[in-house]
Amino acid sequence: MSALRIGFIGTGRPRGTAGSTGFGMAYQHADGYRALGGRCDLVAAADIVQENVQAFADAYDIPRTYLDYHQMLEEEELDVVSLCTWPHLHEQMTVDCAEVGLRAVHCEKPMADTWGGARRMARVCAQKGVQLTFNHMRRFSKVMRNAKVLLDDGQIGDLRRIEFGRYNLCDTGTHWFDTANYFADQTPVDWVMAQLHYAKKKLVFGAHQENQALALWRYSDGVFGLALTSGEEDIPRVHCRLLGSEGLIEIHPAEQDAPRLRIRRKGGSAWEAVDCQGETVHDAVNHGRVIAELVHCLEHGGTPETGAQNALQATELVFASWESARRRGRVDLPLEIEDNPLVAMVESGELNPRD
Ligand SMILES: NC(=O)c1ccc[n+]([C@@H]2O[C@H](COP(=O)([O-])OP(=O)(O)OC[C@H]3O[C@@H](n4cnc5c(N)ncnc54)[C@H](O)[C@@H]3O)[C@@H](O)[C@H]2O)c1
Repeated sequence: MSALRIGFIGTGRPRGTAGSTGFGMAYQHADGYRALGGRCDLVAAADIVQENVQAFADAYDIPRTYLDYHQMLEEEELDVVSLCTWPHLHEQMTVDCAEVGLRAVHCEKPMADTWGGARRMARVCAQKGVQLTFNHMRRFSKVMRNAKVLLDDGQIGDLRRIEFGRYNLCDTGTHWFDTANYFADQTPVDWVMAQLHYAKKKLVFGAHQENQALALWRYSDGVFGLALTSGEEDIPRVHCRLLGSEGLIEIHPAEQDAPRLRIRRKGGSAWEAVDCQGETVHDAVNHGRVIAELVHCLEHGGTPETGAQNALQATELVFASWESARRRGRVDLPLEIEDNPLVAMVESGELNPRD
């Protein structure tokens, strides 16, 4: 089996280094491919900023760099592209990659900046036979895996509700909707009902994010989802909570004193900490696990957990929540819109966030 030829679009700079504009997620992706040894060759990278692409190429001994990703796609005969630009660029770049006949695109979250765009990416890749994945890596953390084992083992009885709380429904929420769906076994969702507050302008990777929101959704098996989001001042204290008929599982942020994962088992009355070998849901090792799985699927077949179908299911909950706020009512799925309701409400003046 010959090594996969890997290319990168949008290299960035490592977080916190001079000139960085974000997290430099391409570095996390590159570490993931490099950890697979001879199965992956890092052959080319493209960025519109010469210093960024050169520093990245130097860090990973990548032989060729480009300022125009189209040129890289034409010249390199790549198998896989890791796409690490900001969300408004994901849709068109993915489609461009699919058009040149790559085997796979691994794109950063969130999928796209509109619901129509997310579906188009998935549709074009499916038509062209391109494996499309998104870096919803949290489901691979030991914290999540251990929680799922306890859940599936009936340790809290039957699952009744999945809750999450963090900054916003899209930038970080896409991860949490994905993990909620993971705990719910990717069961289809019937409806979503949500409300939001957006008074202070908040752009993350160039994309509007609400200041606060409350979203409720129902899986077709009767399990409910509940999301609470809030900005810096008032971040919910629990990442995720699984409520069962006879017990409770909680996942806590790393910065808190509580154990990352704890359970109140059926028949028990006290919390028990669950050992996750020091891992948190954010650990870099999870980026590598996503990449190891997508490469394995290219080599041996199969559907990656971070594939477009699961990503669409999470993304639909993001846009359906915002659509519910726009409609002031419940949104029954499938979601039949093309745009980004939060952006549309800002552009129409219905929402007027201030700097
Ligand atoms: N999975 C996670 O936990 C996680 C964490 C942080 C960020 N992200 C996501 O990763 C993505 C990238 O974020 P980042 O922090 O790495 O960004 P970044 O700002 O560090 O890097 C983006 C790079 O894209 C380049 N770029 C812009 N336009 C380009 C173009 N037309 N062609 C080629 N390159 C171009 C920029 O010059 C920059 O170097 C975002 O979608 C973000 O939401 C994911």
